[in-house]
Amino acid sequence: TRTQDEEQLPHATKRTMADHLRRFETLFTLTPQRMRIIVSSFKETLETGLDKPDQTVPMIPTFVFGWPSGNEKGEFLAIDLGGTNLRVCLLNLQGNGKFEITQSKYRLSEEQKQDDGQKLFDFCVDCLKLFIEANSGEDGILQLVPGQKIPLGFTFSYPCKQDKIDHGILIRWTKGFGSPNTEGKNVAEMFREALSKHDLPVELTALINDTTGTLIASRYVNPTTKIACIFGTGCNAAYMEHVKDIPKIKHLGIDGDQDMAINCEWGAFDSFEHEHLPRTKYDIIIDESSNKPGEQAFEKLISGRYLGEIVRLIICELIDEGVLFLGQNTYKLEVPNAFDTALLSLMESDPTDELLMIIGLFSHFFALETTLAERQFLRAIARLVGRRAARLSACGIASIVEKMGYIEEGCSVGADGSLYNKYPGFAERIHEGLVDIFGERGRNIVTHHAEDGSGVGSAIIAAMTKERKAAGIY
Ligand code: GLC
Repeated sequence: TRTQDEEQLPHATKRTMADHLRRFETLFTLTPQRMRIIVSSFKETLETGLDKPDQTVPMIPTFVFGWPSGNEKGEFLAIDLGGTNLRVCLLNLQGNGKFEITQSKYRLSEEQKQDDGQKLFDFCVDCLKLFIEANSGEDGILQLVPGQKIPLGFTFSYPCKQDKIDHGILIRWTKGFGSPNTEGKNVAEMFREALSKHDLPVELTALINDTTGTLIASRYVNPTTKIACIFGTGCNAAYMEHVKDIPKIKHLGIDGDQDMAINCEWGAFDSFEHEHLPRTKYDIIIDESSNKPGEQAFEKLISGRYLGEIVRLIICELIDEGVLFLGQNTYKLEVPNAFDTALLSLMESDPTDELLMIIGLFSHFFALETTLAERQFLRAIARLVGRRAARLSACGIASIVEKMGYIEEGCSVGADGSLYNKYPGFAERIHEGLVDIFGERGRNIVTHHAEDGSGVGSAIIAAMTKERKAAGIY
């Protein structure tokens, strides 16, 4: 181990680290002025997406009409194909905003994310089958009635172009997925194809995005909710729009007085052109080495899939320059994606003066010893990258708030995802960002943790859809 004396010794190194830190501060800090500029172009982008079809930020009409009443009832299944796991849930909606949930999680391997698309949906249905078998039968909580099908909400959290609720053409994979034979296809149909291979008492009722599910689930328990965001492996938002303000679907002749949820797919903001967001060279490396260069430009600066990698690239550069980990073998850190975003959360939450958790973390995962100065430096870098992500998220929220005119009356933003739930200070930083953008009025916009949009939200939407169908409405 290196001694305290050695730590005191290299004054030159310390100065260099301080110099570097100043450089990174400049690179990663978003001033209020810069944030307001981003908000204004973001807002224009949202409007263009509603106006014209097939835009980069597609502003997808979801065919989820209006808010839930809170009285939705019944038994529903939900499948959630997110970025990291596959989840199957059974929900019992009891009315008055109450529900019970039973669920199982299955890990998705990196290979499955690149394997043939139909196989992925077959896997979803295999898991669904296992789940139904495990929960039905004599003591099971799932009471199957012969001849009756249980409505299923499928949360498929990728951009899908919809023209009704149980249909959706995958525009493009995001979050590192790349399964061939899926982009451009109706994924609801592929799921039904997988279902048809088994005899399951299930009917696909709604195909939804996790943000839409979160919007509806949040509103179910909190009537001030107007926007929902996911800050997880990916980053995206949904909100409720007036049908008359979605010019691109005018030809469908839907009653303009209704409201419809819009899945923004804002992760795609500034893709391809890269003219609005301040990208650093590390962001550009991540983009260019991803399976989708040019795409999801906003998401790549924010979401959990990329933040750890940004920090790793910075560390690797400083190793090359002889600033960090002098004389140590750093091979474990040189592996792409070796630095999980969860490590950033841990580094930021280390409560000790000596940063003992960071010592443990670097020695355990990378077999590296760290000086206190190095640890302080690394923590400062984590803070810069985490803070930038939260402030950019605030820009996204602000653009919807501004577009919809919510700033005076205020609103709640239901938020979910590992970053939002686990990254220390992420929510506070978003709130600070909103104050930087709007001044004191920014305090009218508050984010809160939304419980399980992909499960509960999906079931509520399936229930709403059933009710609409029963009433003979589109
Ligand atoms: C990606 C997906 C989007 C999803 C988000 C959060 O941005 O494209 O559909 O909502 O990740 O999971």
